[in-house]
Amino acid sequence: MSNSSTVHIPIASDHAGPDLKTKIIAALNDYTFDDLGTDGTDRVDYPDYAAKVAALVSERKVPRGILICGTGIGMAIAANKFPGVRAANVESLEAARLSRENNDANTLCLGARLTPPELAIEIVRIWLTTATSKEPRHC
Ligand code: RB5
Repeated sequence: MSNSSTVHIPIASDHAGPDLKTKIIAALNDYTFDDLGTDGTDRVDYPDYAAKVAALVSERKVPRGILICGTGIGMAIAANKFPGVRAANVESLEAARLSRENNDANTLCLGARLTPPELAIEIVRIWLTTATSKEPRHC
């Protein structure tokens, strides 16, 4: 995304993801993240946190958002119930790129228990900087 420092990116996790969330925010300090929780390891319901980000994306208040749970799967399922949200559960750099180029994914879901932090950070970096293909077949 252009103007990376001025675009606010909401990011939220359930209790499986605060550590990864913190690492992503610290590593990608040329972006402005809005941390919507959760902050501790007390158990929470992941759909509640998916909704915090997905509602913003769905209502076009932000262009994109990021969600983290143990696997990324629950967050993607919950976020994709919101109109206009295209949430992709991504576990590789290639999938990060393709989810943007081919699918115009506007919500990135990560699995904190399945994806090492260093890889997750690179996934976010690629996902935030890859534009969507203009090919008609992807529209
Ligand atoms: C929480 O234990 C776990 O179920 C959740 O983080 C997520 O992986 C669900 O999809």
